[in-house]
Amino acid sequence: MATFTSNMCGIVGYVGRSQAAPILLDGLRRLEYRGYDSAGVAIVDGDHVEMRKCAGRIASLAKLISQKPAAGSYGISHTRWATHGKVNDENAHPHFDATGKIALVHNGVIENYQALKEQLIQNGDTNFRSDTDTEVLAHLIGSIYGQLEGKDSKARLVNATRAALKQVIGTYGIAVVHSDIPNFMVGARRGSPLVLGVGKDENFLASDVSAIVAHTRDAVYLNDFDLVALERDKFEISSIDGAVGQHAVSKVEFSAEDIKKGDYPHYMLKEICEQADTVRDAMRGRLTYEECTAKLGGLNMTPPELRDVARVVLTGCGTALHAGRVGEYLIERLANIPVEVEFASEYRHRNTPMTERTLVFAISQSGETADTLGALRESRRKGYRTLGICNNVASTIARESDGGVYMHAGPEIGVAATKSFTSQLVILTLIGLLLGRMRQLSTAEGKRMIDALEALPGQIEEVLKLSDQIKSIAKKYVDVSGMLFFGRQFNYPIALEGALKMKEITYLFAEGHPSAELKHGIIALVRPDLPSIFIAPDDAVLSKNLNNIEQVKARKGPIIAVTSGNGAKQLKDLAADIIEVPDVIDCLSPVLTVIPLQLLAYHLAVELGRDVDKPRNLAKSVTVE
Ligand code: AGP
Ligand code: GLU
Repeated sequence: MATFTSNMCGIVGYVGRSQAAPILLDGLRRLEYRGYDSAGVAIVDGDHVEMRKCAGRIASLAKLISQKPAAGSYGISHTRWATHGKVNDENAHPHFDATGKIALVHNGVIENYQALKEQLIQNGDTNFRSDTDTEVLAHLIGSIYGQLEGKDSKARLVNATRAALKQVIGTYGIAVVHSDIPNFMVGARRGSPLVLGVGKDENFLASDVSAIVAHTRDAVYLNDFDLVALERDKFEISSIDGAVGQHAVSKVEFSAEDIKKGDYPHYMLKEICEQADTVRDAMRGRLTYEECTAKLGGLNMTPPELRDVARVVLTGCGTALHAGRVGEYLIERLANIPVEVEFASEYRHRNTPMTERTLVFAISQSGETADTLGALRESRRKGYRTLGICNNVASTIARESDGGVYMHAGPEIGVAATKSFTSQLVILTLIGLLLGRMRQLSTAEGKRMIDALEALPGQIEEVLKLSDQIKSIAKKYVDVSGMLFFGRQFNYPIALEGALKMKEITYLFAEGHPSAELKHGIIALVRPDLPSIFIAPDDAVLSKNLNNIEQVKARKGPIIAVTSGNGAKQLKDLAADIIEVPDVIDCLSPVLTVIPLQLLAYHLAVELGRDVDKPRNLAKSVTVE
């Protein structure tokens, strides 16, 4: 997308005049949401590398450093989401080369690491200490460095890194230091994000600007195959094959304040509570009252091109995919264009029969999800116009797409996506409105949509006031072994999303289904200790939902209902708990009904003592396949 600025992953590097350790630790804390299996730093002190690393969270690393301080004004650091090798101290990054002079951190996967390792071993290198793919790259760079001639050690390190990366199949964002080369660092990327922070007499490398925004707002977003050599007062970007690179310094849009928890106990709760504002920001400046339509300049499409669209494909993963599933109902309703929704991971490997005039949207909060990026690349390769719906400006998906729409939701730190989801719903509504108004949708219907959209932030405020009620419901169900979620039409995907939030942060078993599917099998699960959550607002399918609720009630399944309008009255004798959200037109109700489910998962997770912002086994942005 043309003018994006950014955010993403688990590396921080520093070259400057301050002590590196506190800067690296602070940066890692801000990146911890991306992976938290282990953490480590390598700081160069005089002529040797001070390495501190351990399995566990950044807090464990901080403790280690406080017991055994690491002095020095340049160094690299990493928070890991393991792909190759167990979660233990040895596999934590940074990794040394065979000489112990070069230290490297890496985000990504070296696919041919076995072959490279065998070759190194054949050449006499037996000094491997970990099971990671990463260590092989460190050794490879070290081995090439040893073979290169020349007095200019900086050029040698750059050339050795370049030569090693040319042999690599896979993805990487890396940072490399050498203990004989003071105040010097090399970074490079392919497939994993890396940003250079430009300071005064200090420079930074990070996977995501949030790690360095407390120190500088000037950033250079590196492209795939960029290599950067940085020192305190200068940096040079070239490509991995040696060509001199172009770069632009951009201003980071958000501040360190934006990514603080403030008075909230968890980022997730903060982000849930921001949704009135983020929904407003998603539509700000994008509605035209004259023509009763949406204005989305970032799509980079002319009105005839938009009118020509015959089919829409929506792709993404997890929560973003669920937004796509709502989008399918929305765009078909508003624009009468056939829509298909595909898991990004399936789409890219399928022989999908694609018709001409198909418009593909890759939906991703982070803009870095490997599966979604793969789908986007495949779709562009096949020649389809492929647009992004991203939150992180200048993320890889944003930059590689033909255009798109930014969410403008601000940094989302909680691993469980919340505010990005409602922003995605609003943007998909705007896309439906725009395409619809070019087709059959009347001015009056367009106006009705705009009025309903504008009322949403106020209605979200109302929903957020239900937090205490939802907390007491959560307390009531704290001993259940799982939950079932049901919804129909626009709210079927909300059942999926409610179940995903629930399993992700409470670790309870949870499933989402279309309500009517109950009788085709799921009803066998119904029993008194397994609550069913029905998303049943006062819409065109309320009476159908009520039938399904009766079926569960008849089999003694406890029922929690999320409803609106006249729904509460009709559910009075059926549901044990009723959560009432404001009334809104059918196609926008998911924006309101999902919030109680986010809150329910949140409060239940807190009751269960879970690590809400960093649930086990997960990472915020999954940059591996
Ligand atoms: C959502 O709560 C999950 N953490 C996960 O499913 C997420 O939505 C998915 O990994 C996609 O992420 P993206 O939007 O950054 O591409
Ligand atoms: N593949 C590397 C590992 O497993 C890096 C993973 C990461 O990106 O954190 O150690």
